[in-house]
Amino acid sequence: MSEAHEIQELAERLAREAGEIQRRRYETSFKVSTKSSSIDLVTEIDHQCEALIVAGISGARHEDAILSEEGGGRERAEARWRWVIDPLDGTTNYAHGYPRFCVSIGVECEGERAIGVVYDPLLDELYSARRGAGATLNGRPIRVSAKTDIGEALVSTGFAYDVRISHQDNVDHFIAFVKRARAIRRDGSAALDLCYVAAGRFDGFWELRLHTWDVVAGLLIVDEAGGRTSDLSGGPAPSSGDEVVASNGGIHDAMLAILHE
Ligand code: IPD
Ligand code: CA
Ligand code: CA
Repeated sequence: MSEAHEIQELAERLAREAGEIQRRRYETSFKVSTKSSSIDLVTEIDHQCEALIVAGISGARHEDAILSEEGGGRERAEARWRWVIDPLDGTTNYAHGYPRFCVSIGVECEGERAIGVVYDPLLDELYSARRGAGATLNGRPIRVSAKTDIGEALVSTGFAYDVRISHQDNVDHFIAFVKRARAIRRDGSAALDLCYVAAGRFDGFWELRLHTWDVVAGLLIVDEAGGRTSDLSGGPAPSSGDEVVASNGGIHDAMLAILHE
């Protein structure tokens, strides 16, 4: 088994274990605090999931770097592999008892997205991809949809936590897609939104001002499911999450055109 394949299996195990914590504590009482703004939440479950995943990586792979949303990662200047973790994507949903959230674990090799694993614990759905090896949902290969008409497309998006004050608030784009797509969803987990594009449930997704941990796993899963990922200009999708457009390929140019109206 290749090193990448071993890392993928470790990421899958850790995503399932963190998801088990989320499932067990869902709709129980837990501490909720705010971060960058009054609408940017973090719960004690985010921290517990992060601690479990970071400990699991540390035990098996001392030399890898880790970037994790709640700050539990570690720098490794010469590291070949970097883990990029969103221990709980969909924290607002989780805090409100809305059943849409996940664990997202991406791994880069020499700066390239190499492995992506996203686990939805309530549906027990594990999305997993390795560069060049395709994308799967619970072990079965997945593929993006075949739609080519934006008027028949189901698309999704989200809004950053600075939406109340940012000029890049995504509201105009949202209105434009409401008028052009068949329907639009804003469901609160960017990592799952990307996986739904990969699985053909959504035909497209875009968002601005995301973070690295929101997108590293999901972008690779979309690419490996035969989709297209880009920035707003059609260039390569940055792992920063700053601009993300992901689609089945067939509606991608139409999405880019709408985003430039
Ligand atoms: C958020 C979710 C949401 C997106 C936000 C993200 P978090 O991540 O992915 O869908 O719209 O921009 O920050 O805070 O729940 O991990
Ligand atoms: Ca997130
Ligand atoms: Ca998170």
